[in-house]
Amino acid sequence: MNIADKILAKDELSREDIIYLLLTTDEDERLSLFNKAKYTTQKYSGSKVNLRGLIELSNICKKNCYYCGIRAGNKDTERYLLNSAHAMEAAEYAWKKGFGSVVIQSGERQDKAFTRHITDLITQIKTLSNQELGITLSCGEQSEDVYREWFEAGAHRYLLRVETSSPELYRKLHPNDDLHDFERRIEALKSLQKVGFQTGTGVMIGLPYQSVEHLADDLIFMKNLNIDMAGMGPYVPHPDTPLFYHSEDIPEDTRRLDLSLKMIALLRIMMKDINIAASTALNTLDPNGRAKAVAAGANVFMPNVTPPAQASNYMLYEGKPIFTDTAETALVEFEEHIQDLGFTINYNMLGDSKHYHNRIAKKGL
Ligand code: 5AD
Ligand code: SF4
Repeated sequence: MNIADKILAKDELSREDIIYLLLTTDEDERLSLFNKAKYTTQKYSGSKVNLRGLIELSNICKKNCYYCGIRAGNKDTERYLLNSAHAMEAAEYAWKKGFGSVVIQSGERQDKAFTRHITDLITQIKTLSNQELGITLSCGEQSEDVYREWFEAGAHRYLLRVETSSPELYRKLHPNDDLHDFERRIEALKSLQKVGFQTGTGVMIGLPYQSVEHLADDLIFMKNLNIDMAGMGPYVPHPDTPLFYHSEDIPEDTRRLDLSLKMIALLRIMMKDINIAASTALNTLDPNGRAKAVAAGANVFMPNVTPPAQASNYMLYEGKPIFTDTAETALVEFEEHIQDLGFTINYNMLGDSKHYHNRIAKKGL
């Protein structure tokens, strides 16, 4: 029995335990961690991977996060907003292919024209699918009223990454102004929970200035917030962003991949029945990254269904797959790999977070 095995036999992991497991380079210990995570997924969330068709609705963003390729300050990006027809084409594709749910992701803006567009799309997607297609939103910070409007229109899951749970690190990654305020982001997450969304958050892994202590605190933060879903992935530098000039200060690719997989595994062990996404960014570090994430505890896969003419402008980070990652090809390859791991795809199902339903049942609501 190695040290990792002893740690993993405990009911609760301490901060020190988490740090030990993030740091270990011992092959047997890594395997112990990943095997325990995979076993936990299968026991508490099942052996099915849930599908969401990812619609990248718009790369127009008011914000200027230092790491992101579609930040407002990047003048080299052609901006777009999918009109209703194009967005519905993507939703219909997802529906017909049996994806069960879509995710609408967008840069952040709060103007009425935009928030109404989202409300209309939610209504149309529900009508198109006889109310069956699930809708996850990832459209940033909004007022509680807007969140409620979208919830009442029929969206029921929301992903808002906190990016890091450390206020100091957050300030190093964002301009220091009202638009990029850590506390506001936390408030937005709480509003989402209050409105009734299945709420997800997540962080980037392998950022400049980020330590393993930060990452351990990120996991504890997600557990304390009692989230239903998580989306975490490696930081991937983008040349047209200020943070690119700190690329020397980040762990190398293999280490960022290892840390990302370990973060997924640890979160799975700490929060057994939540949904965890196999993020697209993993594939920039390893062509098989998303299947490896399933082996490490992920249970959600989000093939990109955005019409390709627009998807090429949704460049959050460098090397993001587009033409090689059409939903069709990505899914065939992924499905083969996860079958070898003992998983199948959960076609035609909402694929809600079990944690959410368990949480509601506990409350007796
Ligand atoms: N590398 C990895 N992920 C990034 N994101 C933005 N920029 C990058 C990057 N350079 C992620 C953020 C954001 C999500 C939409 O994309 O976590 O929440
Ligand atoms: Fe906008 Fe999100 Fe990119 Fe920040 S991370 S610049 S909010 S799209």
